[in-house]
Amino acid sequence: MRNKEIPTFTSVFEQEVYEGLTAFPKHLSSKYFYDEVGDKLFQDIMAMPEYYLTNCEFDIFEAHKEVIAQHFIKDGSPFSLFELGAGDGKKTKVLLNQLVNSNADFDFRPIDISQNVLDQLENSIKKEIPEVIINTLQGTYFETLRDIGKANGKRKVILFLGSNIGNLLHPMAIEFLKNMRDSIGDGDLIFMGFDQKKHPQVILDAYNDKTGITEAFNKNILTRINKEMGANFNLDNFLHWEVYDPETGTAKSFLVSKEKQEITIESLDLMVRLKRWETIHTEISQKYDDDVVEWLAEKSGLSVVTSFSDNEENYKNYIFKK
Ligand code: TRP
Repeated sequence: MRNKEIPTFTSVFEQEVYEGLTAFPKHLSSKYFYDEVGDKLFQDIMAMPEYYLTNCEFDIFEAHKEVIAQHFIKDGSPFSLFELGAGDGKKTKVLLNQLVNSNADFDFRPIDISQNVLDQLENSIKKEIPEVIINTLQGTYFETLRDIGKANGKRKVILFLGSNIGNLLHPMAIEFLKNMRDSIGDGDLIFMGFDQKKHPQVILDAYNDKTGITEAFNKNILTRINKEMGANFNLDNFLHWEVYDPETGTAKSFLVSKEKQEITIESLDLMVRLKRWETIHTEISQKYDDDVVEWLAEKSGLSVVTSFSDNEENYKNYIFKK
C-alpha cells in the first residue's frame, strides 16, 4: 500500500519491487532471485534429482552433440555463440568441447543478469576449455538482445537453454522471440530449450522439492529486499506454494502470507500490508508441446529447422531460423 508520493528509485529493482508490492494481486519478478546466494541455490536446484530439466538437456547434448555442432559450424565461416541467461554453463560446456574438437572458428559470448555467475563461468571455462575465446556481458535479456543485434560481421548462433523461455508468458515470449528474430540475419540460428508437458506430479515435484531448496530459492527475493532495501520480511511467515495447470501448461510459484502482517521497506518509504493467505506471485514456468512451439515460432516470424529430444520427450531443444 502506498503511504506517500511515489519515491524516486535508485534502481530498476527498487522500482519493480515498489510496483509489484503496491499492485493487486501482488507480484515480484523472478529475475531478482539471482544474487550470490540465489545463484548458489539455483545451482543446488539444478543438481536435485527432482529437477529433471538440467539432466534431460545435458543428456540431449551428450547424445546429439555432433549433429548440433554441425548445424552451428555450417559452412565453416566464423561465428559468435551467444548465450542468454548462461548460468553456470554445465550443459553449454558439452557443446563448447564438441565445437573445439571440431575445430570450429567461433567465440563464446555468455550473457547473464548476474555478474557473479559470469565471473565464475569465465574462470571455469578458462581453466577447463582454454581454447575457447570468451567475452562476458552483464544485463537483462531484453537489453542485451539489442547489443547482439548491433554486433555484426560474424554469423550468430544464440543459445537460450533451460527453462528460460518458460519464465515468460506467451505474449511476452512472442515479443521476445520477435526481438531475437530482429537481432539475427539470414543464415543465423537460434537454439532453444522448451520443457515439455508431462505428468503434472513430475512438474510439481521439480518446483517444490521436499528438502526445501526451492522454497529457500523463492524466498531469497525477500531476503534481497531485506538486505538491499532495508525491509523486515520474516521468511517464516511465508509459504512457498506451487501450482501446475495441465490445460495451459503453466506452473506458477507463490509466496503465501501465513498471517496478517505489515512490512516496512525503508528505502522505498513503503509499508506493505498483507492479509492472511494473501499471495505474492513470483515465477511462471511454462511447459510446451510441439504445436505450441510451432505456433510461437510462426507468430514471431521464425521457423523450426529441427529438434532434439530425450527418449521420454520430457524436454526438447529446437533450432530456429528466420
Ligand atoms: N528458470 C527456472 C525454471 O523455471 C527457475 C526455477 C527453478 C524456479 N525452480 C524454481 C523459479 C522454483 C521459481 C521457483 O525452471
